[in-house]
Amino acid sequence: MSNNTAGLRGISAGNTAICTCGKDGVGLTYRGYDIHDLAAYSTFEEVAFLLTRGHLPNQSELEAYQEKLLPLRNVPKPIKEVLRAIPGDAHPMDVLRTACSMLGCIESEKSLNQQLDIADRLLSFFPSALCYWVHYARGNKEIEVITQQDSLAGHFLELLNGCTPSEEHRRCMDVSLILYAEHEYDASTFTSRVITATLSDFYSSVCGGIGALRGPLHGGANEAAMELIELYKTPDEADRGITQKLQNKDKIMGFGHAVYKISDPRNLVIKKWAEKLSHGHANAHYYAVSEAIEKRMWDEKKLFPNLDFYSASSYHFMGIETDLFTPIFIISRITGWSAHIMEQRADNRLIRPNAEYIGPEELKYVPLSQR
Ligand SMILES: CC(C)(COP(=O)(O)OP(=O)(O)OC[C@H]1O[C@@H](n2cnc3c(N)ncnc32)[C@H](O)[C@@H]1OP(=O)(O)O)[C@@H](O)C(=O)NCCC(=O)NCCS
Repeated sequence: MSNNTAGLRGISAGNTAICTCGKDGVGLTYRGYDIHDLAAYSTFEEVAFLLTRGHLPNQSELEAYQEKLLPLRNVPKPIKEVLRAIPGDAHPMDVLRTACSMLGCIESEKSLNQQLDIADRLLSFFPSALCYWVHYARGNKEIEVITQQDSLAGHFLELLNGCTPSEEHRRCMDVSLILYAEHEYDASTFTSRVITATLSDFYSSVCGGIGALRGPLHGGANEAAMELIELYKTPDEADRGITQKLQNKDKIMGFGHAVYKISDPRNLVIKKWAEKLSHGHANAHYYAVSEAIEKRMWDEKKLFPNLDFYSASSYHFMGIETDLFTPIFIISRITGWSAHIMEQRADNRLIRPNAEYIGPEELKYVPLSQR
């Protein structure tokens, strides 16, 4: 395979009416709406509706949608039993992949008419399943997955921390979920579409998406970025450390992008939140450290932070453990995956590219006894 096509970079692999990403090197739209408008004026529920139904909801549609989502937050008993068997040192991405798979066993998809209901179910289910496991496996406590929070962001933070979140934290989580919701044919979404195209079931497509998201070159970058930021106590230390890492040819997680060439439009939004939440925090210096890393990366490599970089410190400032960062990505991205699964099904063709063969040819077969 020539380097030009390695990683399918720059190749259009299908049509979509859900998202544009990297138009003119910078832009991001969900169903025609600019990400900056959605992050400024929408709630995550409005964006989830937009992605899965194709238009922004009016007031009564939004109320009906939120009412539908509330009871879907429950975690069925057999799933609780499975979650209780998963040890506390498991990665929470594996926990959500398992929970999704188990839900597919007990609420399996029997017809295509159920697909929108399954999308809504998974959206409501993931925060509850994750928090149930976190408290049981790591806090030795079995929680009720019930809160009075209308928003999914508030529900998640209250379940996780056991107390009502501040409005600032709730809105930051809401905005973060909006920013992570959809990203065209990125690795996890493409994986979901490939699985969908075989006419497999909804849950299998989502489990595949979770598997692709877990890696540090994709969703796992937000956890890796936090581990990097935590290495440094001062901006000067960060500056020297990053220079050294670049000399060693290390990858700096949370920087660069396969499609955006100039900047990641989501970074502007999340960076402001990271700065805001840093004030008064015991580790407020992580913000200055992050800015020092950003400057060094730009000066040395002309590489810019992607969404994962300042999401890391934003989540940290909200008191969230690092290995829950990528699971938050799932809690949001289930909306984009669902939209793509349904879009793929509506105009399906098996996805089956070719490979350029680079192995040996015309070898003479040697019988086992003579090898
Ligand atoms: C996202 C990513 C996989 C895109 O990679 P890509 O499209 O394959 O980019 P390329 O490999 O063409 O990168 C071009 C050059 O920049 C370098 N580069 C890209 N991202 C880099 C990073 N984060 N740190 C250091 N160098 C980086 C590459 O090593 C390459 O250098 P070279 O030409 O000297 O070999 C890549 O930028 C990366 O690994 N980033 C870190 C992981 C991350 O943050 N992922 C989340 C993405 S939203």
